[in-house]
Amino acid sequence: MANIISQVVFLIILAITTFFLVKRINSIRRNIALGRPADRSDHKDERWKTMLLVAFGQKKMFKRMVPAILHLCVYIGFLVINLEVLEFVLDGLFGTHRLFAPALGAFYTIPINIFEFLAVAVIVACVIFLWRRNVIHIKRFHAKELTAWPKTDANIILITEIVLMLAILTMNATDQVLQDRPGTHYGDTGTLVFSATLIPLFEHMSTGTLIWIERSAWWFHIIGILAFAVYVTYSKHLHIFMAFPNTYYSKLEPKGKMDNMPAVTREVQLMLGGAADDGDSNEEVDRFGAKDVNDLAWTDLMGAYACTECGRCTAECPANQTGKKLSPRKIMMDTRDRVEEAGAAVAKGEKPFEDGKVLLDNFISREEINACTTCQACVEACPININPLAIILQLRRYVAMEEAQSPAAWNAMFSNVENNFAPWKFPPADRFNWADELKEEEEKSKS
Ligand code: HEM
Ligand code: SF4
Ligand code: SF4
Repeated sequence: MANIISQVVFLIILAITTFFLVKRINSIRRNIALGRPADRSDHKDERWKTMLLVAFGQKKMFKRMVPAILHLCVYIGFLVINLEVLEFVLDGLFGTHRLFAPALGAFYTIPINIFEFLAVAVIVACVIFLWRRNVIHIKRFHAKELTAWPKTDANIILITEIVLMLAILTMNATDQVLQDRPGTHYGDTGTLVFSATLIPLFEHMSTGTLIWIERSAWWFHIIGILAFAVYVTYSKHLHIFMAFPNTYYSKLEPKGKMDNMPAVTREVQLMLGGAADDGDSNEEVDRFGAKDVNDLAWTDLMGAYACTECGRCTAECPANQTGKKLSPRKIMMDTRDRVEEAGAAVAKGEKPFEDGKVLLDNFISREEINACTTCQACVEACPININPLAIILQLRRYVAMEEAQSPAAWNAMFSNVENNFAPWKFPPADRFNWADELKEEEEKSKS
């Protein structure tokens, strides 16, 4: 009877979690779809390769060895320990205990020992991550945008992972003690090396207490994992899923290649007296650049959900390094906050983007976007192939082309490009004056 009750309770918890998870996934998809279309259906082979190398293979993480190795422990731990979670879920549904043990026989002890080893590696890595964030002063974790909720969120994630792993070890340690107690149904798992070190904490306890601790650790672990699965969708930890689509759909062209607007390219080609490339350049342009998140491409919005807030982009940004207000990490965080706000309006049945706020000015200031040198260092640094520069450029394009509000010095440069086909104020006819001067000097020196 007790078994049936616990099976029903488990089923209800699983159903509630699935409901909230599906609801949240759908709202994230809807929010990302608020962005403009961008065709990323090309070069499928190259896209798979990029995803396998950058996300699955963690390629760009290894530009910084210490966090890369620590992260590898957590990453592999997550991927492998999830196999054990499968057994947890099936045990919960069927009311069994260690469902795979009879089928695997003596072999069962090997995967469980591997899971335990990884659980210990995850605990060690997360403790060091906590120490790096909160005790030693690593600059990229101490920026203005990383206070309040983002700081708490980062700590919640790390502490939860430690507690979940401790629950596995506690469950296995009490299970091993119970295996030797008469009258219990705990089957032989073989020696579980890491949790066995905890046995002295439990072996003096009564059988009843041990069963209670073992069951509590089981329930704590599985409910913790299910709750965490929902929590991550509201957190920067969503990168554990979003890193994969984000790398798949990331830009394949060389980083320095700007995304020109075909309509503008055509104008420039005509202005320079060349033949206009007619391709898709006769498109109707409803807005130049971006004022709000619905003017950005959906890939930019997906990037905002994939961002881990690691600050590697900001650490490499020359504008940030020289004390300017710009932080590419903040650009991504602001974009996510704004898209979430717009999505919340849609969820309430209201029209989004009618709240009197916009991404430009209410979230990201002109001072920030004007400080960007377009050097691409942030794009190069991002281990998840996020492109903060794409957003900055779209906001700047809006200011320049829709508002004509660029700084005065830039406007002078724009008008030089328009009139002289170069950023300088000299007419094209004077371009070779320097060579004439050289020739004159050479002739003088000969005479
Ligand atoms: C799928 C399982 C994954 C798990 C469990 C996981 C876990 C974590 C955790 C706990 C952190 C926080 C570290 C801290 O607080 O300092 C983190 C950070 C990070 N993760 Fe993941 N992650 C996963 C997948 C990925 C993938 C596929 C990528 C893609 C490359 C990735 C990239 C990052 C980056 C760039 C950071 C910031 C690291 C830094 O501070 O330098 N993660 N991850
Ligand atoms: S492209 Fe702009 S935001 Fe990115 S690193 Fe360079 S200056 Fe900073
Ligand atoms: S954009 Fe990339 S590098 Fe920058 S904080 Fe986000 S994940 Fe890190």
